[in-house]
Amino acid sequence: MLKARENKYAVPAFNFDNLAMMKGIIQAAEETRSPVILMVTESAAKHIGIDFCFSIINVAVKKTKVPVVVHWDHGFDFELIKKAVDAGFSSVMLDSSLKPFAENVKETKAVCAYAHSKGVEVESEIGHVGGKEDDRISNINFYTDVDEAVMFDKSTQIDALAVAIGTSHGLFNKKINLQFDLLKQLANKINTPLVLHGSSQVPLTDLQKCINLGITKINIGTDLKIAYALGVKKYFQANPGDFDARKFEKIGTDFVKEEAIKKIKAFRSNNKA
Ligand code: 13P
Repeated sequence: MLKARENKYAVPAFNFDNLAMMKGIIQAAEETRSPVILMVTESAAKHIGIDFCFSIINVAVKKTKVPVVVHWDHGFDFELIKKAVDAGFSSVMLDSSLKPFAENVKETKAVCAYAHSKGVEVESEIGHVGGKEDDRISNINFYTDVDEAVMFDKSTQIDALAVAIGTSHGLFNKKINLQFDLLKQLANKINTPLVLHGSSQVPLTDLQKCINLGITKINIGTDLKIAYALGVKKYFQANPGDFDARKFEKIGTDFVKEEAIKKIKAFRSNNKA
Protein backbone atom coordinates (compact mmCIF):
# COMPACT_ATOMS: atom_id res chain seq x y z
CA MET A 1 0.00 0.00 0.00
CA LEU A 2 2.96 2.31 0.57
CA LYS A 3 3.91 1.79 -3.07
CA ALA A 4 0.34 2.68 -4.05
CA ARG A 5 0.42 5.90 -2.02
CA GLU A 6 3.72 6.89 -3.58
CA ASN A 7 2.48 6.21 -7.09
CA LYS A 8 -1.01 7.71 -6.64
CA TYR A 9 -3.13 4.65 -7.16
CA ALA A 10 -5.28 2.68 -4.71
CA VAL A 11 -5.37 -1.03 -4.05
CA PRO A 12 -8.93 -2.26 -4.64
CA ALA A 13 -10.43 -4.15 -1.70
CA PHE A 14 -13.51 -6.14 -2.64
CA ASN A 15 -15.94 -7.96 -0.35
CA PHE A 16 -17.22 -11.37 -1.39
CA ASP A 17 -20.12 -13.36 0.04
CA ASN A 18 -19.68 -16.60 -1.85
CA LEU A 19 -17.30 -18.46 -4.13
CA ALA A 20 -18.97 -17.18 -7.32
CA MET A 21 -18.32 -13.56 -6.30
CA MET A 22 -14.76 -14.36 -5.24
CA LYS A 23 -14.07 -15.89 -8.67
CA GLY A 24 -15.32 -12.74 -10.42
CA ILE A 25 -12.97 -10.58 -8.33
CA ILE A 26 -9.98 -12.82 -9.01
CA GLN A 27 -10.70 -12.95 -12.74
CA ALA A 28 -10.93 -9.14 -12.84
CA ALA A 29 -7.59 -8.76 -11.02
CA GLU A 30 -5.85 -11.32 -13.26
CA GLU A 31 -7.24 -9.84 -16.47
CA THR A 32 -6.14 -6.29 -15.56
CA ARG A 33 -2.88 -7.35 -13.84
CA SER A 34 -3.96 -5.59 -10.64
CA PRO A 35 -3.02 -6.42 -7.06
CA VAL A 36 -6.19 -7.11 -5.09
CA ILE A 37 -7.47 -7.38 -1.54
CA LEU A 38 -10.13 -10.04 -1.05
CA MET A 39 -12.24 -9.19 1.97
CA VAL A 40 -14.68 -11.20 3.98
CA THR A 41 -16.76 -9.89 6.87
CA GLU A 42 -17.55 -11.96 9.94
CA SER A 43 -21.08 -12.44 8.74
CA ALA A 44 -20.04 -13.41 5.18
CA ALA A 45 -17.54 -15.90 6.63
CA LYS A 46 -20.30 -17.40 8.78
CA HIS A 47 -22.55 -17.60 5.71
CA ILE A 48 -19.86 -19.45 3.72
CA GLY A 49 -18.95 -21.54 6.78
CA ILE A 50 -15.91 -20.42 8.78
CA ASP A 51 -13.82 -23.50 7.93
CA PHE A 52 -14.80 -23.49 4.25
CA CYS A 53 -13.99 -19.78 4.12
CA PHE A 54 -10.57 -20.32 5.70
CA SER A 55 -9.82 -23.02 3.12
CA ILE A 56 -10.83 -21.04 0.04
CA ILE A 57 -8.84 -17.95 0.99
CA ASN A 58 -5.67 -20.04 1.19
CA VAL A 59 -6.40 -21.55 -2.22
CA ALA A 60 -7.03 -18.05 -3.60
CA VAL A 61 -3.63 -16.84 -2.39
CA LYS A 62 -1.79 -19.86 -3.81
CA LYS A 63 -3.52 -20.09 -7.18
CA THR A 64 -4.07 -16.47 -8.22
CA LYS A 65 -1.62 -15.11 -10.75
CA VAL A 66 -1.47 -11.60 -9.21
CA PRO A 67 -0.62 -10.58 -5.61
CA VAL A 68 -3.60 -11.23 -3.33
CA VAL A 69 -4.09 -10.04 0.24
CA VAL A 70 -6.85 -11.80 2.15
CA HIS A 71 -8.40 -9.45 4.67
CA TRP A 72 -10.76 -10.11 7.60
CA ASP A 73 -13.05 -7.09 7.30
CA HIS A 74 -14.84 -5.39 10.23
CA GLY A 75 -13.82 -7.78 12.96
CA PHE A 76 -15.80 -7.20 16.13
CA ASP A 77 -15.01 -10.48 17.87
CA PHE A 78 -11.40 -10.79 19.08
CA GLU A 79 -11.61 -14.59 19.22
CA LEU A 80 -12.68 -14.77 15.57
CA ILE A 81 -9.97 -12.29 14.61
CA LYS A 82 -7.40 -14.57 16.26
CA LYS A 83 -8.82 -17.54 14.35
CA ALA A 84 -8.54 -15.59 11.09
CA VAL A 85 -4.91 -14.76 11.88
CA ASP A 86 -4.18 -18.41 12.63
CA ALA A 87 -6.03 -19.55 9.50
CA GLY A 88 -3.80 -17.63 7.08
CA PHE A 89 -5.37 -14.19 6.60
CA SER A 90 -2.70 -11.66 5.65
CA SER A 91 -4.52 -8.77 7.26
CA VAL A 92 -7.31 -8.23 9.81
CA MET A 93 -9.47 -5.30 10.76
CA LEU A 94 -10.68 -4.54 14.24
CA ASP A 95 -13.73 -2.30 14.26
CA SER A 96 -14.08 -0.71 17.69
CA SER A 97 -14.86 2.65 16.15
CA LEU A 98 -18.05 3.12 18.18
CA LYS A 99 -16.22 2.56 21.47
CA PRO A 100 -14.56 5.34 23.48
CA PHE A 101 -11.13 6.39 22.19
CA ALA A 102 -9.15 4.78 25.04
CA GLU A 103 -10.95 1.48 24.60
CA ASN A 104 -10.42 1.56 20.83
CA VAL A 105 -6.69 2.15 21.40
CA LYS A 106 -6.45 -0.65 23.99
CA GLU A 107 -8.28 -3.21 21.85
CA THR A 108 -6.38 -2.22 18.70
CA LYS A 109 -3.07 -2.65 20.52
CA ALA A 110 -4.13 -6.10 21.70
CA VAL A 111 -5.03 -7.14 18.13
CA CYS A 112 -1.73 -5.68 16.84
CA ALA A 113 0.25 -7.64 19.45
CA TYR A 114 -1.40 -10.91 18.43
CA ALA A 115 -1.45 -10.35 14.67
CA HIS A 116 2.04 -8.87 14.35
CA SER A 117 3.55 -11.78 16.28
CA LYS A 118 2.32 -13.92 13.36
CA GLY A 119 3.29 -11.51 10.59
CA VAL A 120 -0.27 -10.35 9.94
CA GLU A 121 -1.16 -6.68 9.35
CA VAL A 122 -3.86 -4.74 11.20
CA GLU A 123 -6.37 -2.10 10.11
CA SER A 124 -8.43 -0.12 12.61
CA GLU A 125 -10.97 2.69 12.32
CA ILE A 126 -11.11 6.11 13.89
CA GLY A 127 -14.21 8.25 13.50
CA HIS A 128 -17.15 6.15 12.34
CA VAL A 129 -18.35 5.14 8.90
CA GLY A 130 -21.99 4.21 9.46
CA GLY A 131 -24.60 2.69 7.18
CA LYS A 132 -25.50 -0.91 6.47
CA GLU A 133 -22.58 -3.32 6.58
CA ASP A 134 -23.99 -6.83 6.12
CA ASP A 135 -26.43 -7.42 8.96
CA ARG A 136 -25.20 -4.49 11.07
CA ILE A 137 -26.90 -1.15 10.74
CA SER A 138 -25.50 2.01 12.24
CA ASN A 139 -27.14 5.32 11.50
CA ILE A 140 -24.40 7.24 13.25
CA ASN A 141 -21.68 8.75 11.07
CA PHE A 142 -19.00 10.89 12.61
CA TYR A 143 -16.03 12.33 10.85
CA THR A 144 -12.50 11.47 11.90
CA ASP A 145 -10.94 14.09 14.12
CA VAL A 146 -7.43 14.92 12.89
CA ASP A 147 -5.76 15.21 16.31
CA GLU A 148 -7.45 12.04 17.53
CA ALA A 149 -6.36 10.19 14.39
CA VAL A 150 -2.74 11.30 14.83
CA MET A 151 -2.80 10.20 18.47
CA PHE A 152 -4.45 6.90 17.54
CA ASP A 153 -1.86 6.24 14.86
CA LYS A 154 0.99 6.98 17.27
CA SER A 155 -0.42 4.99 20.18
CA THR A 156 -1.13 1.81 18.24
CA GLN A 157 1.06 -0.04 15.77
CA ILE A 158 -1.56 -0.22 13.03
CA ASP A 159 -0.63 -0.86 9.41
CA ALA A 160 -3.69 0.84 7.89
CA LEU A 161 -6.12 3.43 9.20
CA ALA A 162 -9.78 3.61 8.16
CA VAL A 163 -11.02 7.18 8.23
CA ALA A 164 -14.51 8.67 8.11
CA ILE A 165 -14.70 11.53 5.60
CA GLY A 166 -18.33 11.34 4.46
CA THR A 167 -18.94 7.89 2.97
CA SER A 168 -21.29 5.32 4.49
CA HIS A 169 -21.71 1.59 3.98
CA GLY A 170 -24.29 0.14 1.61
CA LEU A 171 -27.20 2.10 0.14
CA PHE A 172 -28.56 2.91 3.58
CA ASN A 173 -28.69 6.69 4.19
CA LYS A 174 -26.20 7.20 1.39
CA LYS A 175 -25.60 10.91 1.39
CA ILE A 176 -22.31 11.61 -0.27
CA ASN A 177 -20.62 14.81 0.74
CA LEU A 178 -16.94 13.98 0.91
CA GLN A 179 -14.73 16.11 3.14
CA PHE A 180 -11.70 16.46 0.87
CA ASP A 181 -10.15 19.10 3.10
CA LEU A 182 -10.29 16.78 6.08
CA LEU A 183 -8.68 14.01 4.04
CA LYS A 184 -5.91 16.40 2.98
CA GLN A 185 -5.16 17.26 6.61
CA LEU A 186 -5.18 13.59 7.63
CA ALA A 187 -2.85 12.60 4.80
CA ASN A 188 -0.48 15.45 5.61
CA LYS A 189 -0.09 14.30 9.19
CA ILE A 190 -0.30 10.52 8.95
CA ASN A 191 2.05 8.23 7.04
CA THR A 192 0.13 5.05 7.73
CA PRO A 193 -1.89 4.07 4.63
CA LEU A 194 -5.43 5.49 4.77
CA VAL A 195 -8.48 3.39 3.92
CA LEU A 196 -11.84 4.50 2.52
CA HIS A 197 -14.82 2.38 3.56
CA GLY A 198 -18.34 2.58 2.14
CA SER A 199 -17.09 3.41 -1.34
CA SER A 200 -19.92 1.85 -3.39
CA GLN A 201 -22.15 4.34 -5.22
CA VAL A 202 -19.55 7.09 -4.77
CA PRO A 203 -18.78 8.76 -8.12
CA LEU A 204 -15.52 7.41 -9.51
CA THR A 205 -14.23 10.95 -10.00
CA ASP A 206 -14.65 11.56 -6.24
CA LEU A 207 -12.80 8.32 -5.47
CA GLN A 208 -9.99 9.41 -7.81
CA LYS A 209 -9.78 12.72 -5.97
CA CYS A 210 -9.46 10.75 -2.71
CA ILE A 211 -6.62 8.71 -4.24
CA ASN A 212 -4.82 11.90 -5.29
CA LEU A 213 -5.18 13.17 -1.72
CA GLY A 214 -3.76 10.02 -0.10
CA ILE A 215 -6.31 7.18 0.13
CA THR A 216 -4.51 3.93 -0.72
CA LYS A 217 -7.10 1.20 -0.07
CA ILE A 218 -10.68 1.52 -1.28
CA ASN A 219 -13.34 -0.86 0.05
CA ILE A 220 -16.16 -1.90 -2.26
CA GLY A 221 -18.90 -4.27 -1.15
CA THR A 222 -22.41 -3.23 -2.16
CA ASP A 223 -21.65 -2.51 -5.84
CA LEU A 224 -20.45 -6.11 -6.27
CA LYS A 225 -23.50 -7.50 -4.46
CA ILE A 226 -25.69 -5.47 -6.84
CA ALA A 227 -23.72 -6.70 -9.87
CA TYR A 228 -24.01 -10.34 -8.76
CA ALA A 229 -27.75 -10.08 -8.12
CA LEU A 230 -28.31 -8.29 -11.46
CA GLY A 231 -26.47 -11.03 -13.32
CA VAL A 232 -28.51 -13.79 -11.68
CA LYS A 233 -31.79 -11.89 -12.23
CA LYS A 234 -30.94 -11.35 -15.89
CA TYR A 235 -30.22 -15.04 -16.29
CA PHE A 236 -33.62 -16.01 -14.91
CA GLN A 237 -35.44 -13.42 -17.00
CA ALA A 238 -33.97 -15.10 -20.08
CA ASN A 239 -34.24 -18.66 -18.73
CA PRO A 240 -37.20 -18.71 -16.33
CA GLY A 241 -37.45 -22.49 -16.30
CA ASP A 242 -33.78 -23.20 -15.60
CA PHE A 243 -32.43 -24.45 -12.29
CA ASP A 244 -28.74 -25.11 -12.94
CA ALA A 245 -26.59 -23.28 -10.37
CA ARG A 246 -23.51 -23.72 -12.58
CA LYS A 247 -25.19 -21.54 -15.21
CA PHE A 248 -26.73 -18.75 -13.14
CA GLU A 249 -23.75 -18.46 -10.82
CA LYS A 250 -21.50 -18.11 -13.87
CA ILE A 251 -23.49 -15.05 -15.04
CA GLY A 252 -23.26 -13.60 -11.53
CA THR A 253 -19.49 -14.12 -11.64
CA ASP A 254 -19.24 -12.41 -15.04
CA PHE A 255 -21.17 -9.36 -13.78
CA VAL A 256 -18.98 -9.12 -10.66
CA LYS A 257 -15.89 -9.32 -12.86
CA GLU A 258 -17.08 -6.46 -15.11
CA GLU A 259 -17.93 -4.23 -12.13
CA ALA A 260 -14.58 -4.98 -10.46
CA ILE A 261 -12.71 -4.16 -13.68
CA LYS A 262 -14.41 -0.73 -13.80
CA LYS A 263 -13.24 0.03 -10.25
CA ILE A 264 -9.72 -1.30 -10.83
CA LYS A 265 -9.27 0.94 -13.86
CA ALA A 266 -10.65 3.96 -12.00
CA PHE A 267 -8.30 3.28 -9.07
CA ARG A 268 -5.39 3.01 -11.55
CA SER A 269 -4.19 -0.27 -10.04
CA ASN A 270 -4.28 -2.06 -13.43
CA ASN A 271 -0.85 -3.21 -14.62
CA LYS A 272 0.59 -2.68 -11.12
CA ALA A 273 0.78 -6.39 -10.22
P1 13P B 1 -19.83 -0.55 0.58
O1 13P B 1 -20.70 -1.76 0.71
O2 13P B 1 -20.60 0.71 0.78
O3 13P B 1 -19.04 -0.56 -0.67
O4 13P B 1 -18.79 -0.62 1.78
C1 13P B 1 -17.93 -1.73 1.86
C2 13P B 1 -16.94 -1.60 2.94
O5 13P B 1 -16.55 -0.52 3.36
C3 13P B 1 -16.39 -2.84 3.51
O6 13P B 1 -15.54 -2.63 4.58
